[in-house]
Amino acid sequence: MTKIYGRGETRVHALRGIDLDLPRGGFTAIMGASGSGKSTLMHCLAGLDQPSGGTVTVAGTDLGSLDDDALTIFRREHVGFVFQSFNLLPMLTAAENIVLPLELGGHRIDDPARERAHLLADLLGVAGRLAHRPAELSGGQQQRVAIARALITQPDLLFADEPTGNLDSATSAEVLDHLRRSARELGQTVVMVTHERDAAAYADHVVTMRDGRIA
Ligand SMILES: Nc1ncnc2c1ncn2[C@@H]1O[C@H](COP(=O)(O)OP(=O)(O)O)[C@@H](O)[C@H]1O
Ligand SMILES: [Mg+2]
Repeated sequence: MTKIYGRGETRVHALRGIDLDLPRGGFTAIMGASGSGKSTLMHCLAGLDQPSGGTVTVAGTDLGSLDDDALTIFRREHVGFVFQSFNLLPMLTAAENIVLPLELGGHRIDDPARERAHLLADLLGVAGRLAHRPAELSGGQQQRVAIARALITQPDLLFADEPTGNLDSATSAEVLDHLRRSARELGQTVVMVTHERDAAAYADHVVTMRDGRIA
């Protein structure tokens, strides 16, 4: 995987020689130093980024064979992503951000959907902040809203990039326990980047990256 800076004068190999199988319904933690390629790998696995070489296959489908529309539909129907930088929409309230994936998927935001959003917000300790916009929330609260948004559709594939990076230890434990139960009880395939050993200990297995490779 080559990433191109600016006009392409400088190239950096963000990923190389990765061969990784993620079991359905498993909970995998990805660890590694800053800059080792963890976020790039997650983006490739989720169909948010295209590797310059190699393939990503999900449930028999080669993501590289999908055009932009098909890839968008694939992500909408199967993928939840908690971005390292949250990526909440600034003009929407927390509640509107959380239900957005349902809306984009063509679902009506009815009472059960609102109730589910509220339950998730409650679980994550941000139920009292639902009417606020992201700019009115702390980093930790934004992270919790981003986690609720990724969970609302109960996606087959859930990617979380340092999801506990801004959370206190009690909320971290709640989030990690929920991710583990998502895999065990709902059969969701969960992939989480973390640099905390305590967090990685919740996963079934740990993959360590170094310089774009699996160490
Ligand atoms: N958009 C980008 N353009 C060019 N290089 C990038 C870009 N994003 C990340 N990189 C580079 O790719 C490498 C891996 O980055 P990243 O996947 O963000 O690592 P990590 O998440 O492990 O900190 C780093 O050398 C980083 O500087
Ligand atoms: Mg990263």
